[in-house]
Amino acid sequence: MSEDARVGVFVCRCGSNIGGFVDVPEVVECAKALKDVVFAEEGKWSCSVDYLAHMQECVKEHNLNRVVIASCTPRTHEPLFKRTVREAGLNPYLLEFVSIREQVSWVHMDDREAATEKAKDLVKMGVAKARLLEEGEEIRLPVKTDSLIIGGGIAGMTAALSLADQGFNVTIVEREARLGGLLNKIGRVWNNGSEFPADELVKARAERLYNHPHIKVYTNAAIDTIEGYIGNYKVTVKSNGSIEAFDASTVIVATGMQEIEPVGQYGYGDDARVVTQLDLEGLLKNNALDNVKDAVVINCVNSMNESRGCCNIGCGISVKNAVALKGLNQDIHVHILYRDLCMVKDERGNVERAKRAGIKFIRFPDDRYPEVSRENDRLAVKVYDVLLAREFSIPADLLVLTTGFQGDSSVEQIKGQLKVSANAEGFFQEAHIKLGPLDFPADGIFLCGGARSPKNIREACEEAIGAGMRASIPMKRGYIEAEGIVADIDPGACNGCGLCAKNCPYGAIRMADEKPTVVKALCKGCGLCAADCPTNTITIIHYSDEQILAQIEAALEERPEEKIIGFVCHWCCLGAADMAGVSRLQYPPHGRLIRVMCSARVASQFVLSAFELGAAGVLVGGCEFPTCHYIVGNYKAENRMERVKKTLARKGYDPERLWVLWCSAADGPKFANTMREMVKRLNLK
Ligand code: FES
Repeated sequence: MSEDARVGVFVCRCGSNIGGFVDVPEVVECAKALKDVVFAEEGKWSCSVDYLAHMQECVKEHNLNRVVIASCTPRTHEPLFKRTVREAGLNPYLLEFVSIREQVSWVHMDDREAATEKAKDLVKMGVAKARLLEEGEEIRLPVKTDSLIIGGGIAGMTAALSLADQGFNVTIVEREARLGGLLNKIGRVWNNGSEFPADELVKARAERLYNHPHIKVYTNAAIDTIEGYIGNYKVTVKSNGSIEAFDASTVIVATGMQEIEPVGQYGYGDDARVVTQLDLEGLLKNNALDNVKDAVVINCVNSMNESRGCCNIGCGISVKNAVALKGLNQDIHVHILYRDLCMVKDERGNVERAKRAGIKFIRFPDDRYPEVSRENDRLAVKVYDVLLAREFSIPADLLVLTTGFQGDSSVEQIKGQLKVSANAEGFFQEAHIKLGPLDFPADGIFLCGGARSPKNIREACEEAIGAGMRASIPMKRGYIEAEGIVADIDPGACNGCGLCAKNCPYGAIRMADEKPTVVKALCKGCGLCAADCPTNTITIIHYSDEQILAQIEAALEERPEEKIIGFVCHWCCLGAADMAGVSRLQYPPHGRLIRVMCSARVASQFVLSAFELGAAGVLVGGCEFPTCHYIVGNYKAENRMERVKKTLARKGYDPERLWVLWCSAADGPKFANTMREMVKRLNLK
């Protein structure tokens, strides 16, 4: 924008929420005196329909080309005000939001003077940034109607049908020769109170798939290459020795799960009488169990330990297969040794059914797993019964281990191809366990079923339908709109080091002729590339270096030695500050928070600049590990701050004045405590 900035400042009283604890007229007078501010006023309820209309009139009447709103929190109200200024004819990226309720009036209720001073500083910081704001634009990408599904188990088949029945074209890629996945290894299934052969379920679904006009099936197949982004994936598939290429707009990952092989545990692998639940399924299915008189099942093998939690489905499987053994021969003695029976409500009846069939349940302590000995070629399982407080020795000629699950063996390869992450248990990592459980961080890629965590059939199918619906949204709409907060690279100043392309968690920066370009549709605006760029060639729209440095300068213009500059990520640390406000937690008023989308945006230069300008301390706050909303941003920020501490020490600053805080958006008390603790340790009055 070439025209001079004409900033309008609207300070909200929020009834008495702000007006009761902050001298709002004084804040307005302060705003009026700031450079480029041509209009400032207070409003009683700024988000009311009437005031929003008035605000639009003011924008037009005073020819405002930047707007600062000082009110509640951007996390709830920014979209409303963005819409308002847009309707007034202003680009919404020319709006800056200042939180003087959650960050000021609600947390400094006993000190009106300090609260007013802080509110004035926050408005100054907002205006300093607003003067430098540039127009931005949402990026609209076309999305067609073709979806790729990786994995042809029950989840993949269900997702495929869910999409194809809505009229979308689906290509399903299955590694094995048959569709069905794990179900092909299973005899009978219990599902929603009914019982039937697994083969029947697979056959019915597979028939529908093969006969569906919108579904193409590749078996004996694997993804060879996949490149692109939502709306524009180029895929090649290797199938039965040939390679075929096609386009897809969305991708659903349904690669399933596998049992953890309990090699060496309880003699598994050496003694044919020791099997896993999946082995037992095969033996039952193929009628290959002869002469079994005493079967013992041990639950929670390789789960509920230091490295992995409950597998969610083991108890249900153990009960089902124990009943199947009884069904084979009523005279077989079956014992289930368990730590805790974790079953959902509608599975509880199965335990009663098992007990009626004569199956014995013995609960053993968490720290005292059953032991197996071999005497005269007989297996004997020694178990301590928690309820009877005594030890038993149970003979066994079949020992079944209910072992935990891990992601499929294809996870490593696919995660590299799709540039997504997997967790330590080998399952794919969703974008956010609550906010995006079926999404990957990158738009257009979804996951479901055992690819995400162990699931029974019902859960896998429910997730598959959910993932299908998620994928259908952009395909039905025909486009996606990406936020305009993205990286922008000045190729002229770039030295071609490629660090940005290497580090981008979304693969959004591509190198060509040693010059990086940003695929804006893939960029999420985390700012990692800009913060680490050695030549400062990258800027983030709406969070540029100049804008953030201007905020720091404005905050520290007066009495910097009393202030703590806080760089907080929008998603969690700002959320925690908001939560402290909502909870009315009172803490000292020394902090001046600067919002960034992710802690990864906090460049070393920002921290150094704050100290050079005399700040008493600096706080860098982001999401608690491992839940950064930009995959690895908090890890990168943490490493960077370690390096900054060394630089601070070299420059003669006490590195202990730099603090980091990793928290969830619910961690209001943690945020408030950190502020209290910082003020105490920094000896601030
Ligand atoms: Fe919170 Fe990355 S979004 S640290």
